[in-house]
Amino acid sequence: MSRSFRIDPGGRLSGILRVPGDKSISHRSVMLGAIAEGVTDVTGFLEGADAISTMNVFRALGVRIDGPREGRVTVHGAGMHGLRGAAGPLDCGNAGTAMRLLIGLLAGQRFESTLVGDESLSHRPMRRVAEPLAAMGARIETAAGCPPVRILPAQALHGIRYAMPVASAQVKSALLLAGLYAQGETTVIEPAPTRDHTERMLEAFGVSLGREGAAVTLRGGQALRACTIDVPADISSAAFFLVGASIAPGSELLLEHVGINPTRTGVIEILRRMGADISLRNPRQAGGEPVADLQVRAAALRGIEVPPELVALAIDEFPALFVAAACAEGRTVVTGAAELRVKESDRIAVMADGLQALGVRATPTPDGMVIEGRGGEAGVFAPGVVAAHADHRIAMSFAMAGLRARGALTIRDTLNVGTSFPGFETLARTAGLRIEGRGEDA
Ligand code: S3P
Repeated sequence: MSRSFRIDPGGRLSGILRVPGDKSISHRSVMLGAIAEGVTDVTGFLEGADAISTMNVFRALGVRIDGPREGRVTVHGAGMHGLRGAAGPLDCGNAGTAMRLLIGLLAGQRFESTLVGDESLSHRPMRRVAEPLAAMGARIETAAGCPPVRILPAQALHGIRYAMPVASAQVKSALLLAGLYAQGETTVIEPAPTRDHTERMLEAFGVSLGREGAAVTLRGGQALRACTIDVPADISSAAFFLVGASIAPGSELLLEHVGINPTRTGVIEILRRMGADISLRNPRQAGGEPVADLQVRAAALRGIEVPPELVALAIDEFPALFVAAACAEGRTVVTGAAELRVKESDRIAVMADGLQALGVRATPTPDGMVIEGRGGEAGVFAPGVVAAHADHRIAMSFAMAGLRARGALTIRDTLNVGTSFPGFETLARTAGLRIEGRGEDA
């Protein structure tokens, strides 16, 4: 099945929107709800393919889960030792978060599991979790470091102190989940701050954690108590609209109830440094996570050198930020972002190819990109065709480029947009993007 977007040039974005629920928090709500005692009620759940993959995996592990219906999910917790071995392989689809966190969670179980994924996930590195988990006593087999991943029952896990070589919330989370089943303490030290949704949600489920600087410590054997979870709108999905409204003259948008956890707001900080006009309205708390309504107005952007310390705080937003950089006046330089090469696609190579196909001077580097912005011109992007390589965030980023294009854009291979942003086309069209979906299931 193939899908594509056609974007007619121009237009502006306006109105009040709520983008779908946070993907990271949705995954974790099912995982922690499944091993908790009692019933966890979730609202605002992301009804996208990735989070649904996680739900289906836990159903296969014997957990009763109702929903999703209009963002409501009810997880009937099986308790710490209530999961049951599945009859066949557990399919994580396109979801790296599902797979990496599950490896940690399943490492401490008394049954065997095999995790599989789609074509993209099957090429993503899993040693980064398998190796430290092996040091905890886990028995994990990969296919040369990639899925399928086989997890054999371990005798007993023991806590370790682990300094992560890469800044990865997925690795940190996998070790903390395994740490729940380990004897003694598990400490994870991060080289740079990464999203802390696992830590916050574990605390909401009654687990006590030590958080000191770059280190987080958890004592094994603690039970989780069910709770209610209000999932905020995903800042990573809001990012396309933050960029779209910034680059399209005359735009003004209000994005409601967006998660603004400080480990996720790098995109706001980077766009503001480029001159974007973004303000936070009505900041408040929702289930242990800070949220706000984001107001964004069009602004003249300028190129910047992105500070490497902001990279991990905006890691999923670089495809959109590269589009913003093309619309800025002057050069933008991104460094320290080699992790982009091992996401749903090689986001450095695929974005550079797409930008070049649309006439932008974009030079990929081993750990980032140099983009010569054309902010002075009304039409930044030449008409053309871009391959999204089945990467949802690449597809949505180039869709926003249509707002500053000189002719129609075609974006190929957009089916996976539904992994993180079901309803993107409709919402974007409502806001003013001249987008039309094409393909077999259009
Ligand atoms: C995620 C962590 C990030 C991010 C991914 C979601 C998570 O991956 O890119 O989309 O939910 O923990 P890394 O931990 O590999 O950086």
